[in-house]
Amino acid sequence: MQPDPSPSNAESPLADTRGRPMRDLRISVTDRCNFRCPYCMPAEVYGEKYEFLPKPELLTFEELERLVGVFAGLGVEKLRISGGEPLLRQDLPALVARLAGIPRIRDLALTTNAVLLPRLAQPLRRAGLRRITISLDSLDETVFETMNGGRGSVAQVLQGIEAAERADLHPIKINCVVQRDVNDRGIVELARHFKRTGHILRFIEYMDVGTKNGWDWDQVVPAREILERIDAELPLEPVSPNYRGEVARRWRYRDGEGEIGVIASVSQPFCGDCTRARLTTDGKLVTCLFGTSSTDLRAPLRDGASDAELRRIIAGVWSARSDRYSEERRDLVQIEGHQPERLEMYQIGG
Ligand code: GTP
Ligand code: 5AD
Ligand code: SF4
Ligand code: SF4
Repeated sequence: MQPDPSPSNAESPLADTRGRPMRDLRISVTDRCNFRCPYCMPAEVYGEKYEFLPKPELLTFEELERLVGVFAGLGVEKLRISGGEPLLRQDLPALVARLAGIPRIRDLALTTNAVLLPRLAQPLRRAGLRRITISLDSLDETVFETMNGGRGSVAQVLQGIEAAERADLHPIKINCVVQRDVNDRGIVELARHFKRTGHILRFIEYMDVGTKNGWDWDQVVPAREILERIDAELPLEPVSPNYRGEVARRWRYRDGEGEIGVIASVSQPFCGDCTRARLTTDGKLVTCLFGTSSTDLRAPLRDGASDAELRRIIAGVWSARSDRYSEERRDLVQIEGHQPERLEMYQIGG
């Protein structure tokens, strides 16, 4: 019998080979999306005929609840529901209600493109969701259309944000992926728009996630440059992190009118404090956004594994984890023919 690497008491918390505990779980609840952002799900690859996962392949709500209970027993306190576009998952509020009720889960968040929020914000709030993160890459309709593959409008996203406000989801974070010569000229306009709204706008360095977006260093606008451009017009000062390992670095306007963040995973990697596990739509455990391997949890789950067995599998994977892709990127992408077989963003929830 294999030794059990899972912690037996609070004095021996589960840690990976770099001493990092497992604190967060990002769950992709669907691989489908109503957008076709070229940096994630380019329309020419994901056309009419593309076959997304058939329903029996998806983890059911019962399976998700059970697995999250096991993850929580191993130290996970924070969940993020993502996708694909999570609001496309049928009956999502029922899942939120189940997950919000799991003891030890102290933070439950969701990342969405907001198009379906006018219908779903209230039901999600009632089910136990407290905060939300909304993606919006530009306020310019033409630029935004380019960045979502012509599937949605700025007006729809702004209506989604209003719906989140009315439903008292708080804080509302707005994610903007910055691509040079695509949307970077709109950075300051976005900052002005969300200043004084109480929403936290975060600029994300464009990353080489997945295999389909043709990422290049030249398309990355480093966080330092993003901050300089905003600071020149709307002066900023740094704010200390909310907690160790926070992905976004926080800044606030010197006039006290709001907060922004930058997610600098390319120019200033944060792997040293990375406590995030990921669960794919079809139930695979992945330990890095750039992971090239995964561990199937659905098969043992459906074969009748006990909680203790699932716990042993998950703990075994986490205790062997050594991922630090963003710290290694500079060396790896230089290697000729470097084309890792990694998972796509929408499969692992970003
Ligand atoms: P909170 O701090 O809990 O609000 O959320 P978050 O910023 O971790 O989550 P969100 O879904 O808003 O992600 C923001 C961006 O950070 C996305 O582009 C994610 O892909 C990226 N991101 C989140 N976690 C990681 C990570 O572990 N590694 C890398 N490289 N990027 C990450
Ligand atoms: N680089 C950076 N962020 C990305 N996202 C999707 N693809 C990328 C990428 N290649 C963002 C989405 C969403 C979050 C979960 O990840 O826009 O806000
Ligand atoms: Fe959909 Fe989000 Fe991917 Fe865009 S980035 S295609 S909104 S899952
Ligand atoms: Fe964590 Fe991998 Fe992102 Fe590094 S690159 S912060 S190890 S998910």
